[in-house]
Amino acid sequence: MSSGDDSSPQRMSRTIGGESCSVKEKKLNRDLSKTQKRGAKCWRTIVLRWSRLVKGGVVNSRPPKGSVRSGIKLKKVSVQKDSTAKCSGALYNSALPTSAKTKRNYRVVMGYPLLELTRKTAVVIGGTSGIGLALSKGLAQAGADVVPTGRRSEQVQAAVGIVEELGRRTLAQTCDVRDNASIETLLQTVLAKLGSVQILVNCAGWTKRMPTLDFPDVDWESIMDINLNGTMRACRVFARHMIERRYGRIINIASLSSFLGLYEVAAYCASKGAVASLTKALAVEWAQYGVCVNALVPGVLRTDLNAALLDGTERGKEFLLRTPMRRFGKLDELAGATIFLASDAASFVTGHLLAVDGGILASGVNQ
Ligand SMILES: NC(=O)c1ccc[n+]([C@@H]2O[C@H](COP(=O)([O-])OP(=O)(O)OC[C@H]3O[C@@H](n4cnc5c(N)ncnc54)[C@H](OP(=O)(O)O)[C@@H]3O)[C@@H](O)[C@H]2O)c1
Repeated sequence: MSSGDDSSPQRMSRTIGGESCSVKEKKLNRDLSKTQKRGAKCWRTIVLRWSRLVKGGVVNSRPPKGSVRSGIKLKKVSVQKDSTAKCSGALYNSALPTSAKTKRNYRVVMGYPLLELTRKTAVVIGGTSGIGLALSKGLAQAGADVVPTGRRSEQVQAAVGIVEELGRRTLAQTCDVRDNASIETLLQTVLAKLGSVQILVNCAGWTKRMPTLDFPDVDWESIMDINLNGTMRACRVFARHMIERRYGRIINIASLSSFLGLYEVAAYCASKGAVASLTKALAVEWAQYGVCVNALVPGVLRTDLNAALLDGTERGKEFLLRTPMRRFGKLDELAGATIFLASDAASFVTGHLLAVDGGILASGVNQ
């Protein structure tokens, strides 16, 4: 190894540790020779990449002391004691050459590594159709292991198949957000198979259109129980686990009706207004534990839930008129915002309601 080579141990110890401590250099030399057989080249690649990220201020906290799950050890790298640098699993992964990867397809080509979700597990409740299924796919494409769930086992199996096709780990477990025990069982099943949960998406929802004067109490209560109480129950069950681990990303699904009155869906509006408030309240309560709680605000997207309300109706036409982009959203268009909120790139974002709505919330007069 020439002294001019950036990968020389001496250069590395200075770059990484920021100190010319000979003890550290000797230790680094020892570690390098130990890993020589098992891919010292890979090891150096990772260390160098990580050090560049710390130097460039891209990474803002230090790596875990234990070995990375890929089997490549980083724990003996000398790290500046007072460094606030931390390296997410995603960053390690993006540094891994193909030879260092396990059988699973970990490789995600992401220009901005903090957006990568590799080595994170996402649970998407209401993830078996419509918006939730699109988000499950997006999260899996960004590298996460994804557990899409809902009440019906056939739908769950189908969604799980889609995640598997994308090369991510998953499992089939039904869940009903009206029942605390069901959510608890979901969490325990995921922990038993996948180890931990970093991301929760609350996408279960229901609506019914009817004049409020005629609206049956039982339907009002049902909408509140799924949309609001169900979101709260899932937040509570999963947040306990996230708080213990001092890391979490919760993404609730709010709605335009969190902000606007929509005709003859008062129960839905009330429930989604409350989801927005709940999101902010939980964000304030759990920020201290590293758990970020945000909400996605989809504009008008055509799904099973609302197709009858939109297709060829005056209501559908009015929505289009009010949307500056003059079209309904596509399900896939929600994935990018969700990946961001689920990622380490959103480490300072909490209590935010992120609208992906073609401009409808911004619009006043459109013609
Ligand atoms: N579509 C839009 O334009 C739009 C706009 C803004 C917000 N949203 C919101 O986005 C979310 C998803 O809507 P969508 O249009 O994608 O609806 P969807 O296609 O009907 O999907 C609803 C999902 O929730 C699950 N679900 C329903 N009740 C559940 C329960 N009690 N426990 C667990 N899972 C349950 C469903 O599976 P099972 O039936 O098998 O349980 C399904 O996976 C809803 O919260 C909705 O309010 C939709």
